[in-house]
Amino acid sequence: MIELASPSKINLFLRVLNRRPDGYHELASLFQAIDLCDRIQIRLSDKDHLTCSLAHLPIDQTNLAYKALTLFRKKTGIHEPVEVYLEKNIPIQAGLGGGSGNAATTLWGLNELFGRPATEKDLSCWAAEIGSDISFFFSQGTAYCTGRGEHVQPLTCLPSTALWIVKPGVGLSTPKVFGNLRLGSLQQRCPQSCLKEFTLGRWECFNDLEESAFQMMPELQVYKQKLLDSGFSQVHLCGSGSSLWCQGEGSLPKFNDAEVFRVNFINRSSNAWY
Ligand code: C5P
Repeated sequence: MIELASPSKINLFLRVLNRRPDGYHELASLFQAIDLCDRIQIRLSDKDHLTCSLAHLPIDQTNLAYKALTLFRKKTGIHEPVEVYLEKNIPIQAGLGGGSGNAATTLWGLNELFGRPATEKDLSCWAAEIGSDISFFFSQGTAYCTGRGEHVQPLTCLPSTALWIVKPGVGLSTPKVFGNLRLGSLQQRCPQSCLKEFTLGRWECFNDLEESAFQMMPELQVYKQKLLDSGFSQVHLCGSGSSLWCQGEGSLPKFNDAEVFRVNFINRSSNAWY
């Protein structure tokens, strides 16, 4: 039996460059894995048995862990039945890439269980077929991602940094947040320059999806302002939301309708999972 942590991520900066003919958006984003993790158990079995700790989130063909199993079978020709159990801790519709992390972790776990028929690079390439930000998790946890998000340039790990994640009760749909985006209103920052500044220790964090998410969910802007007023120096949307990450010397205010998580950056070594 294999049991693995399935991490989530934040985007330290996220630029949306344009809308592509295939309906996706061209991104340039600095991704960082965080230690808010689900857990996945995978074992050989006499028939497939896929279950989840959240009764309302079955592992059926819409679930990325299921898609990862199907993909692994298609690519390797290995069809032995398995039991997969997913313990969910990462909130859904939060922009934290929880489902993408589940897919990456399932691919990694299956590859371990069956004696590593694929390389890390194979798994990372295959992953792009089922989602845009799954390949990121095959970096060591810090990467500059472009294209739909699937072109991953691994970066040196950033210093350990503690953050808060604030997840309002209501989630946001990724396609809807991208669909509501007004490209013309975005600040034309050069992502390469942002990346260079980061490598020099000068953090300029931002998320081009924020305006769209705030328009769809105005209370998110109120959350952000409250966190800034409480002394946090960085408060930004995670991915397409609805969670916010915040960092700095602030003290966390009370929220009636939000979950709050204390997290840190997480990285992995090559040939080991998170
Ligand atoms: O690839 P993934 O399934 O994670 O994307 C979910 C949805 O998010 C897409 O169907 C698309 O609407 C939107 N998306 C996008 N541009 C990206 C990534 C995602 O428009 N680069």
